[in-house]
Amino acid sequence: MYEGDIASVLLTEDQIQERVKSLAAEIAERYPVGSPQGDLLLVGVLKGAIFFMTDLSRALPIPTQMEFMAVSSYGSSTSSSGVVRILKDLDKDIAGRNVLIVEDIIDSGLTLSWLIRNLSSRNPGSLEVVTLLRKPDAVKTDVNVALIGFDIPNEFVVGYGLDYAERYRDLPYIGTLDPKIYSDDGDL
Ligand code: PRP
Ligand code: MN
Ligand code: MG
Repeated sequence: MYEGDIASVLLTEDQIQERVKSLAAEIAERYPVGSPQGDLLLVGVLKGAIFFMTDLSRALPIPTQMEFMAVSSYGSSTSSSGVVRILKDLDKDIAGRNVLIVEDIIDSGLTLSWLIRNLSSRNPGSLEVVTLLRKPDAVKTDVNVALIGFDIPNEFVVGYGLDYAERYRDLPYIGTLDPKIYSDDGDL
C-alpha cells in the first residue's frame, strides 16, 4: 500500500502495540475501579486519535466510556495556527467526571492547550492527557502531559491515524512521508 510514498518506518506495528499496552497499564493504576466519579471517560480527538483510542480502550483492564470531539485549527496542512474551531462537540456533560483526553500527536501543542482550557471550563472531576506521540516543539507550549507514548523527531509522520491530506491514516505503522509527496502539490 502507498508504495514509494513512505520514506522510512519510524515505529513498527509491534512497537506501537507494545507501548499501547504499557500505557494502558499505567493508566489503569491511576484510575481505581469503583470511583465515585464513575467510569473513566476517554475523550478522543477526531480524526487522528481513532486508532489509538480503540486500541487503548481495549488494552485497558478497567471499564471506560467514550466521547469524541472534532476540532480544526486554521493553517496549512502541515502546521497549525493555534486558532481552533469546534467541528463536533462532546455529546455529554463532563462535570465531575474523570476525563482523559486521547490524542495521536502533540506537534506545536496549540490544539491541546486550547482543548485543555476548553474542557477545564466544563468542571471535570479530573482532566489528564495521553498522547501517543510528541514532537520537540510541543515542549515550547506549556502543556502538562503526563502520559506520552514516544518522543519523536521533528519530521512529518503519517500512519496509525495520522494523515497527510486525509491519506495514510489506515497504515498500521508510523512512517515518515517522502518529501516528494508534499512538495509536489504545494500547500494543500
Ligand atoms: C493533528 C493531530 C493533532 C494536532 C496536533 O490533527 O491529530 O490533533 O494536529 O497539532 P498541534 O500540536 O500543532 O496543534 P489535525 O488538525 O490534522 O486533524 P486530524 O486529526 O483530523 O488529522
Ligand atoms: Mn488531530
Ligand atoms: Mg491531520
